[in-house]
Amino acid sequence: MNFKRTIIITGGAGFIGNHVVRLFVNKYPEYKIINLDKLTYAGNLANLKDIEDKPNYKFVKADICDFETIYKLMQDEHVDGIIHLAAESHVDRSIKDPFTFAQTNVMGTLSLLQAAKLYWESLPEKWEGKRFYHISTDEVYGALELTDPEGIMPPFSTKASSSKHHLAYGSKFFTEDLKYQPHSPYSAAKASSDHFVRAFHDTYGLPTVVTNCSNNYGPYQFPEKLIPLFINNIRHRKPLPVYGKGENVRDWLYVEDHARAIDLIFHEGKIAETYNIGGFNEWKNIDLIKVLINTVDRLLGRPEGADMDLITYVTDRAGHDLRYAIDSTKLQKELGWEPSLQFEEGIEKTVRWYLDNQEWMDNVTSGDYQKYYDDMYKNR
Ligand code: NAD
Ligand code: DAU
Repeated sequence: MNFKRTIIITGGAGFIGNHVVRLFVNKYPEYKIINLDKLTYAGNLANLKDIEDKPNYKFVKADICDFETIYKLMQDEHVDGIIHLAAESHVDRSIKDPFTFAQTNVMGTLSLLQAAKLYWESLPEKWEGKRFYHISTDEVYGALELTDPEGIMPPFSTKASSSKHHLAYGSKFFTEDLKYQPHSPYSAAKASSDHFVRAFHDTYGLPTVVTNCSNNYGPYQFPEKLIPLFINNIRHRKPLPVYGKGENVRDWLYVEDHARAIDLIFHEGKIAETYNIGGFNEWKNIDLIKVLINTVDRLLGRPEGADMDLITYVTDRAGHDLRYAIDSTKLQKELGWEPSLQFEEGIEKTVRWYLDNQEWMDNVTSGDYQKYYDDMYKNR
Protein backbone atom coordinates (compact mmCIF):
# COMPACT_ATOMS: atom_id res chain seq x y z
CA MET A 1 0.00 0.00 0.00
CA ASN A 2 1.27 3.47 -0.88
CA PHE A 3 1.02 5.97 1.94
CA LYS A 4 0.94 9.73 1.53
CA ARG A 5 3.25 10.23 4.52
CA THR A 6 5.22 8.06 6.91
CA ILE A 7 5.57 9.34 10.43
CA ILE A 8 7.49 7.97 13.39
CA ILE A 9 5.85 8.71 16.73
CA THR A 10 8.33 8.00 19.53
CA GLY A 11 7.03 6.99 22.96
CA GLY A 12 3.71 5.93 21.45
CA ALA A 13 3.18 3.24 24.08
CA GLY A 14 3.30 5.78 26.90
CA PHE A 15 0.57 7.95 28.35
CA ILE A 16 0.33 10.87 25.91
CA GLY A 17 1.88 8.91 23.05
CA ASN A 18 -0.92 6.33 22.88
CA HIS A 19 -3.52 9.07 22.51
CA VAL A 20 -1.48 10.72 19.74
CA VAL A 21 -0.92 7.41 17.92
CA ARG A 22 -4.63 6.54 18.16
CA LEU A 23 -5.68 9.95 16.83
CA PHE A 24 -3.28 9.81 13.87
CA VAL A 25 -4.00 6.16 12.96
CA ASN A 26 -7.76 6.72 12.98
CA LYS A 27 -7.85 10.19 11.47
CA TYR A 28 -5.27 9.67 8.72
CA PRO A 29 -5.64 6.22 7.09
CA GLU A 30 -3.51 7.67 4.25
CA TYR A 31 -0.51 8.02 6.63
CA LYS A 32 1.66 5.18 7.86
CA ILE A 33 2.20 5.60 11.59
CA ILE A 34 5.23 3.91 13.12
CA ASN A 35 5.17 3.76 16.89
CA LEU A 36 8.79 3.54 18.04
CA ASP A 37 9.09 2.71 21.71
CA LYS A 38 11.57 0.95 23.96
CA LEU A 39 8.78 -0.26 26.25
CA THR A 40 10.29 0.89 29.52
CA TYR A 41 8.22 0.49 32.70
CA ALA A 42 6.09 3.40 31.37
CA GLY A 43 5.36 1.90 27.95
CA ASN A 44 2.55 -0.57 27.53
CA LEU A 45 1.27 -2.01 24.25
CA ALA A 46 -2.02 -2.88 25.94
CA ASN A 47 -2.71 0.87 25.67
CA LEU A 48 -3.07 0.43 21.90
CA LYS A 49 -5.07 -2.82 21.63
CA ASP A 50 -7.89 -1.10 19.74
CA ILE A 51 -5.70 0.00 16.82
CA GLU A 52 -2.90 -2.57 16.69
CA ASP A 53 -4.39 -4.38 13.66
CA LYS A 54 -4.99 -1.29 11.56
CA PRO A 55 -3.18 -1.47 8.17
CA ASN A 56 -1.55 1.94 8.63
CA TYR A 57 -0.04 1.12 12.05
CA LYS A 58 3.31 -0.48 12.79
CA PHE A 59 5.11 -0.98 16.10
CA VAL A 60 8.91 -1.00 16.33
CA LYS A 61 10.58 -1.81 19.63
CA ALA A 62 13.72 0.33 19.73
CA ASP A 63 15.67 2.72 21.89
CA ILE A 64 15.83 6.32 20.66
CA CYS A 65 19.50 6.33 21.73
CA ASP A 66 20.21 3.64 19.10
CA PHE A 67 21.22 5.91 16.21
CA GLU A 68 21.96 3.09 13.70
CA THR A 69 18.53 1.49 14.11
CA ILE A 70 16.70 4.80 13.81
CA TYR A 71 18.70 5.88 10.76
CA LYS A 72 18.08 2.57 8.98
CA LEU A 73 14.38 2.66 9.85
CA MET A 74 14.10 6.15 8.40
CA GLN A 75 15.74 5.01 5.16
CA ASP A 76 13.79 1.74 4.86
CA GLU A 77 10.43 3.38 5.56
CA HIS A 78 11.07 6.73 3.81
CA VAL A 79 10.06 8.58 6.94
CA ASP A 80 9.12 12.23 6.39
CA GLY A 81 7.89 13.21 9.84
CA ILE A 82 8.87 12.61 13.45
CA ILE A 83 6.70 13.39 16.44
CA HIS A 84 8.98 12.89 19.40
CA LEU A 85 7.41 12.06 22.76
CA ALA A 86 9.69 9.33 24.12
CA ALA A 87 11.28 10.42 27.37
CA GLU A 88 11.81 9.62 30.99
CA SER A 89 8.99 11.74 32.36
CA HIS A 90 8.67 11.45 36.14
CA VAL A 91 10.28 14.18 38.27
CA ASP A 92 10.63 11.98 41.39
CA ARG A 93 12.52 9.32 39.44
CA SER A 94 14.82 11.99 38.01
CA ILE A 95 15.76 13.07 41.52
CA LYS A 96 16.85 9.50 42.30
CA ASP A 97 18.47 8.69 38.95
CA PRO A 98 19.47 11.76 36.89
CA PHE A 99 21.78 9.83 34.54
CA THR A 100 18.97 7.88 32.90
CA PHE A 101 17.18 11.18 32.26
CA ALA A 102 20.21 12.75 30.59
CA GLN A 103 20.75 9.61 28.53
CA THR A 104 17.21 9.22 27.23
CA ASN A 105 16.02 12.80 27.07
CA VAL A 106 19.20 14.46 25.83
CA MET A 107 21.21 11.78 24.02
CA GLY A 108 18.09 10.05 22.70
CA THR A 109 16.78 13.31 21.24
CA LEU A 110 20.19 14.04 19.75
CA SER A 111 20.36 10.64 18.09
CA LEU A 112 16.90 11.17 16.52
CA LEU A 113 17.87 14.65 15.32
CA GLN A 114 21.07 13.37 13.76
CA ALA A 115 19.30 10.46 12.04
CA ALA A 116 16.64 12.82 10.64
CA LYS A 117 19.23 15.34 9.51
CA LEU A 118 21.45 12.78 7.73
CA TYR A 119 18.57 11.00 6.03
CA TRP A 120 16.62 14.07 4.90
CA GLU A 121 19.76 15.89 3.79
CA SER A 122 20.61 12.94 1.52
CA LEU A 123 17.34 13.22 -0.42
CA PRO A 124 17.05 15.35 -3.58
CA GLU A 125 14.21 17.39 -2.09
CA LYS A 126 16.03 17.70 1.31
CA TRP A 127 13.84 19.41 3.94
CA GLU A 128 10.83 19.87 1.63
CA GLY A 129 7.75 18.26 3.23
CA LYS A 130 9.70 17.13 6.33
CA ARG A 131 9.04 17.91 9.95
CA PHE A 132 10.68 17.14 13.29
CA TYR A 133 8.21 17.91 16.07
CA HIS A 134 9.60 17.82 19.61
CA ILE A 135 7.16 17.54 22.53
CA SER A 136 8.40 19.32 25.61
CA THR A 137 7.12 20.54 28.94
CA ASP A 138 6.29 23.78 30.73
CA GLU A 139 8.71 22.73 33.50
CA VAL A 140 11.63 24.10 31.46
CA TYR A 141 10.47 27.62 32.38
CA GLY A 142 11.02 26.93 36.09
CA ALA A 143 8.44 28.00 38.63
CA LEU A 144 6.09 30.97 38.95
CA GLU A 145 5.36 32.74 42.20
CA LEU A 146 2.14 32.07 44.02
CA THR A 147 1.24 35.68 44.74
CA ASP A 148 -2.53 35.24 45.17
CA PRO A 149 -3.15 32.25 47.45
CA GLU A 150 -6.93 32.71 47.34
CA GLY A 151 -6.93 32.89 43.55
CA ILE A 152 -7.80 35.72 41.18
CA MET A 153 -9.80 35.94 37.96
CA PRO A 154 -7.38 34.94 35.17
CA PRO A 155 -7.20 37.04 32.01
CA PHE A 156 -8.23 34.06 29.84
CA SER A 157 -11.57 32.81 28.77
CA THR A 158 -12.19 29.53 26.92
CA LYS A 159 -14.92 26.91 26.92
CA ALA A 160 -12.83 24.98 29.43
CA SER A 161 -12.27 27.96 31.66
CA SER A 162 -15.99 28.63 32.05
CA SER A 163 -15.74 25.92 34.72
CA LYS A 164 -16.94 26.77 38.25
CA HIS A 165 -13.36 26.80 39.47
CA HIS A 166 -11.72 29.42 37.25
CA LEU A 167 -8.81 30.85 39.16
CA ALA A 168 -5.21 31.92 38.69
CA TYR A 169 -2.84 31.98 41.66
CA GLY A 170 -0.70 34.84 40.36
CA SER A 171 -0.70 37.36 37.55
CA LYS A 172 2.35 35.97 35.73
CA PHE A 173 2.16 33.10 33.24
CA PHE A 174 4.61 31.07 31.16
CA THR A 175 4.91 32.63 27.69
CA GLU A 176 7.03 31.36 24.81
CA ASP A 177 9.64 34.13 25.18
CA LEU A 178 10.56 33.35 28.82
CA LYS A 179 14.09 32.24 29.52
CA TYR A 180 14.60 28.65 30.59
CA GLN A 181 15.13 28.04 34.32
CA PRO A 182 14.69 24.31 34.92
CA HIS A 183 15.03 23.07 38.50
CA SER A 184 14.74 19.28 38.45
CA PRO A 185 17.02 16.84 36.63
CA TYR A 186 13.95 15.94 34.53
CA SER A 187 13.28 19.51 33.41
CA ALA A 188 17.01 20.22 32.97
CA ALA A 189 17.23 17.26 30.59
CA LYS A 190 14.09 18.35 28.72
CA ALA A 191 15.45 21.91 28.48
CA SER A 192 18.70 20.58 27.07
CA SER A 193 16.84 18.52 24.47
CA ASP A 194 14.80 21.60 23.45
CA HIS A 195 18.06 23.52 22.93
CA PHE A 196 19.43 20.73 20.71
CA VAL A 197 16.26 20.75 18.61
CA ARG A 198 16.50 24.52 18.07
CA ALA A 199 20.24 24.24 17.40
CA PHE A 200 19.56 21.69 14.63
CA HIS A 201 17.22 24.16 12.98
CA ASP A 202 19.54 27.13 13.35
CA THR A 203 22.71 25.26 12.34
CA TYR A 204 21.53 22.84 9.66
CA GLY A 205 18.07 24.09 8.70
CA LEU A 206 16.25 21.01 10.03
CA PRO A 207 12.51 21.82 9.92
CA THR A 208 11.66 21.69 13.60
CA VAL A 209 8.83 22.77 15.86
CA VAL A 210 8.72 22.62 19.68
CA THR A 211 5.77 22.69 22.04
CA ASN A 212 5.79 23.09 25.82
CA CYS A 213 2.73 21.69 27.51
CA SER A 214 1.32 21.78 31.03
CA ASN A 215 0.28 18.78 33.18
CA ASN A 216 -1.82 16.24 31.30
CA TYR A 217 -4.43 13.97 32.83
CA GLY A 218 -6.71 11.24 31.47
CA PRO A 219 -6.79 7.50 30.75
CA TYR A 220 -3.65 5.32 30.53
CA GLN A 221 -1.38 7.47 32.73
CA PHE A 222 1.12 5.44 34.72
CA PRO A 223 0.13 5.43 38.43
CA GLU A 224 3.28 7.12 39.68
CA LYS A 225 1.80 10.50 38.68
CA LEU A 226 -0.53 12.31 41.05
CA ILE A 227 -3.96 11.73 39.50
CA PRO A 228 -3.92 7.98 38.68
CA LEU A 229 -1.89 7.18 41.81
CA PHE A 230 -4.37 8.93 44.06
CA ILE A 231 -7.47 7.53 42.32
CA ASN A 232 -6.08 4.02 42.84
CA ASN A 233 -5.12 4.72 46.46
CA ILE A 234 -8.55 6.18 47.27
CA ARG A 235 -10.22 3.14 45.74
CA HIS A 236 -8.12 0.84 47.93
CA ARG A 237 -8.27 3.18 50.93
CA LYS A 238 -4.50 3.65 51.00
CA PRO A 239 -2.85 6.84 52.33
CA LEU A 240 -2.54 9.76 49.90
CA PRO A 241 1.03 11.14 50.19
CA VAL A 242 0.61 14.91 49.71
CA TYR A 243 4.00 16.59 49.26
CA GLY A 244 4.64 19.57 51.57
CA LYS A 245 1.46 21.50 52.34
CA GLY A 246 -0.31 20.61 49.10
CA GLU A 247 -0.13 24.28 48.09
CA ASN A 248 1.71 23.73 44.80
CA VAL A 249 -0.24 24.72 41.72
CA ARG A 250 -0.42 22.87 38.41
CA ASP A 251 -2.28 23.74 35.19
CA TRP A 252 -4.19 20.63 34.07
CA LEU A 253 -5.08 19.70 30.50
CA TYR A 254 -7.10 16.68 29.34
CA VAL A 255 -4.74 14.45 27.36
CA GLU A 256 -6.96 14.25 24.24
CA ASP A 257 -6.90 18.05 24.03
CA HIS A 258 -3.10 17.86 24.00
CA ALA A 259 -3.25 15.22 21.24
CA ARG A 260 -5.53 17.52 19.18
CA ALA A 261 -3.06 20.36 19.62
CA ILE A 262 -0.21 18.10 18.48
CA ASP A 263 -2.16 17.14 15.34
CA LEU A 264 -2.83 20.81 14.55
CA ILE A 265 0.73 21.95 15.18
CA PHE A 266 2.27 19.04 13.27
CA HIS A 267 0.25 20.09 10.22
CA GLU A 268 -0.05 23.85 10.58
CA GLY A 269 2.55 25.07 13.07
CA LYS A 270 5.28 27.29 11.64
CA ILE A 271 8.77 25.87 11.26
CA ALA A 272 11.20 26.95 14.00
CA GLU A 273 8.36 28.18 16.20
CA THR A 274 7.54 27.31 19.79
CA TYR A 275 3.96 27.00 21.01
CA ASN A 276 2.84 26.72 24.61
CA ILE A 277 -0.08 24.38 25.26
CA GLY A 278 -2.04 24.61 28.51
CA GLY A 279 -5.36 24.03 30.15
CA PHE A 280 -6.10 27.57 31.42
CA ASN A 281 -6.91 25.49 34.46
CA GLU A 282 -4.87 26.05 37.64
CA TRP A 283 -5.44 23.94 40.73
CA LYS A 284 -3.71 23.77 44.08
CA ASN A 285 -2.82 20.14 44.67
CA ILE A 286 -4.86 19.90 47.85
CA ASP A 287 -8.03 21.27 46.18
CA LEU A 288 -7.61 18.88 43.29
CA ILE A 289 -7.09 15.97 45.69
CA LYS A 290 -10.36 16.82 47.45
CA VAL A 291 -12.16 16.78 44.10
CA LEU A 292 -10.63 13.36 43.40
CA ILE A 293 -11.74 12.00 46.77
CA ASN A 294 -15.31 13.28 46.33
CA THR A 295 -15.52 11.94 42.79
CA VAL A 296 -14.15 8.46 43.59
CA ASP A 297 -16.38 8.20 46.68
CA ARG A 298 -19.48 9.23 44.74
CA LEU A 299 -18.79 6.84 41.84
CA LEU A 300 -18.11 3.96 44.24
CA GLY A 301 -21.31 4.68 46.17
CA ARG A 302 -19.45 5.76 49.31
CA PRO A 303 -20.58 8.89 51.19
CA GLU A 304 -18.88 11.87 49.45
CA GLY A 305 -15.78 12.89 51.33
CA ALA A 306 -15.70 9.69 53.39
CA ASP A 307 -12.05 9.20 52.42
CA MET A 308 -10.71 12.66 53.34
CA ASP A 309 -8.85 11.04 56.24
CA LEU A 310 -6.53 9.34 53.72
CA ILE A 311 -4.82 12.69 53.11
CA THR A 312 -1.33 12.34 54.60
CA TYR A 313 1.13 15.23 54.45
CA VAL A 314 4.65 13.93 53.72
CA THR A 315 8.12 15.44 53.20
CA ASP A 316 8.15 17.77 50.25
CA ARG A 317 9.69 16.89 46.87
CA ALA A 318 13.23 18.34 46.67
CA GLY A 319 13.23 21.54 44.60
CA HIS A 320 9.45 21.33 44.27
CA ASP A 321 8.29 23.97 41.75
CA LEU A 322 5.56 26.08 43.32
CA ARG A 323 3.36 27.09 40.43
CA TYR A 324 3.03 26.28 36.73
CA ALA A 325 0.59 28.26 34.60
CA ILE A 326 0.69 28.35 30.82
CA ASP A 327 -0.35 31.20 28.59
CA SER A 328 -1.33 29.50 25.33
CA THR A 329 -2.77 32.62 23.72
CA LYS A 330 -0.33 32.30 20.80
CA LEU A 331 -1.67 28.86 19.89
CA GLN A 332 -5.24 30.04 20.38
CA LYS A 333 -4.79 33.13 18.19
CA GLU A 334 -2.54 31.71 15.46
CA LEU A 335 -3.97 28.23 15.03
CA GLY A 336 -7.38 28.43 16.71
CA TRP A 337 -6.82 25.73 19.36
CA GLU A 338 -8.34 25.72 22.80
CA PRO A 339 -9.13 23.04 25.38
CA SER A 340 -12.51 21.43 24.67
CA LEU A 341 -13.33 19.97 28.08
CA GLN A 342 -14.18 21.67 31.32
CA PHE A 343 -12.16 20.23 34.18
CA GLU A 344 -15.24 18.85 35.97
CA GLU A 345 -16.12 16.86 32.83
CA GLY A 346 -12.54 15.70 32.29
CA ILE A 347 -12.02 14.57 35.87
CA GLU A 348 -15.31 12.66 35.92
CA LYS A 349 -14.33 10.85 32.68
CA THR A 350 -10.87 10.13 34.03
CA VAL A 351 -11.97 8.76 37.41
CA ARG A 352 -14.60 6.61 35.70
CA TRP A 353 -11.98 5.24 33.30
CA TYR A 354 -9.61 4.15 36.09
CA LEU A 355 -12.45 2.64 38.12
CA ASP A 356 -13.70 0.74 35.04
CA ASN A 357 -10.22 -0.45 34.09
CA GLN A 358 -8.95 -2.09 37.23
CA GLU A 359 -7.44 -4.89 35.16
CA TRP A 360 -5.22 -2.36 33.34
CA MET A 361 -4.24 -0.89 36.71
CA ASP A 362 -3.49 -4.34 38.14
CA ASN A 363 -1.31 -5.20 35.14
CA VAL A 364 0.79 -2.04 35.30
CA THR A 365 1.16 -2.23 39.07
CA SER A 366 2.31 -5.86 39.07
CA GLY A 367 6.01 -6.71 38.81
CA ASP A 368 8.45 -4.07 40.05
CA TYR A 369 5.83 -1.44 40.82
CA GLN A 370 5.36 -2.27 44.50
CA LYS A 371 9.11 -2.02 45.07
CA TYR A 372 9.15 1.39 43.37
CA TYR A 373 6.22 2.54 45.49
CA ASP A 374 7.78 1.35 48.76
CA ASP A 375 11.17 2.92 47.93
CA MET A 376 9.63 6.21 46.87
CA TYR A 377 7.47 6.67 49.92
CA LYS A 378 9.17 4.78 52.78
CA ASN A 379 11.21 7.72 54.13
CA ARG A 380 8.75 10.50 53.48
P1 NAD B 1 5.39 8.41 29.74
O1 NAD B 1 6.47 8.24 30.75
O2 NAD B 1 4.02 7.98 30.07
O3 NAD B 1 5.80 7.64 28.41
C1 NAD B 1 7.09 7.69 27.88
C2 NAD B 1 7.20 6.66 26.75
O4 NAD B 1 8.51 6.76 26.20
C3 NAD B 1 7.03 5.22 27.23
O5 NAD B 1 6.21 4.51 26.33
C4 NAD B 1 8.44 4.66 27.22
O6 NAD B 1 8.50 3.26 26.98
C5 NAD B 1 9.06 5.45 26.09
N1 NAD B 1 10.52 5.55 26.21
C6 NAD B 1 11.23 5.93 27.32
N2 NAD B 1 12.55 5.87 27.06
C7 NAD B 1 12.68 5.48 25.76
C8 NAD B 1 13.78 5.25 24.91
N3 NAD B 1 15.04 5.40 25.33
N4 NAD B 1 13.54 4.88 23.63
C9 NAD B 1 12.27 4.71 23.17
N5 NAD B 1 11.19 4.89 23.95
C10 NAD B 1 11.38 5.28 25.21
O7 NAD B 1 5.44 9.94 29.32
P2 NAD B 1 4.24 10.93 28.97
O8 NAD B 1 3.68 11.48 30.21
O9 NAD B 1 3.36 10.30 27.96
O10 NAD B 1 5.08 12.11 28.27
C11 NAD B 1 5.37 12.05 26.88
C12 NAD B 1 6.17 13.28 26.50
O11 NAD B 1 5.42 14.45 26.79
C13 NAD B 1 7.48 13.43 27.27
O12 NAD B 1 8.44 13.91 26.37
C14 NAD B 1 7.17 14.44 28.35
O13 NAD B 1 8.32 15.17 28.69
C15 NAD B 1 6.16 15.31 27.64
N6 NAD B 1 5.18 15.98 28.51
C16 NAD B 1 4.43 15.26 29.43
C17 NAD B 1 3.47 15.90 30.19
C18 NAD B 1 2.60 15.16 31.18
O14 NAD B 1 1.86 15.78 31.93
N7 NAD B 1 2.63 13.83 31.22
C19 NAD B 1 3.27 17.28 30.04
C20 NAD B 1 4.06 17.99 29.13
C21 NAD B 1 5.00 17.32 28.35
O1 DAU C 1 4.05 20.25 33.84
C1 DAU C 1 4.24 19.19 32.96
C2 DAU C 1 4.81 18.01 33.71
O2 DAU C 1 3.77 17.49 34.51
C3 DAU C 1 5.38 16.94 32.79
O3 DAU C 1 6.44 17.47 32.06
C4 DAU C 1 5.84 15.73 33.59
O4 DAU C 1 6.26 14.70 32.73
C5 DAU C 1 4.68 15.24 34.43
O5 DAU C 1 5.09 14.16 35.24
C6 DAU C 1 4.11 16.37 35.29
O6 DAU C 1 5.05 16.75 36.33
P1 DAU C 1 4.59 17.02 37.85
O7 DAU C 1 5.76 16.81 38.71
O8 DAU C 1 3.84 18.30 37.95
O9 DAU C 1 3.50 15.82 38.01
P2 DAU C 1 3.20 14.79 39.20
O10 DAU C 1 1.94 14.08 38.83
O11 DAU C 1 4.39 14.00 39.57
O12 DAU C 1 2.88 15.78 40.43
C7 DAU C 1 1.84 16.73 40.36
C8 DAU C 1 1.88 17.53 41.65
O13 DAU C 1 1.48 16.67 42.75
C9 DAU C 1 3.25 18.04 42.02
O14 DAU C 1 3.13 19.31 42.65
C10 DAU C 1 3.79 17.02 43.04
C11 DAU C 1 2.51 16.56 43.73
N1 DAU C 1 2.54 15.15 44.21
C12 DAU C 1 2.85 14.18 43.31
C13 DAU C 1 2.88 12.85 43.69
C14 DAU C 1 3.25 11.77 42.72
C15 DAU C 1 2.18 14.84 45.50
O15 DAU C 1 1.85 15.74 46.31
N2 DAU C 1 2.22 13.52 45.90
C16 DAU C 1 2.56 12.52 45.04
O16 DAU C 1 2.59 11.34 45.47
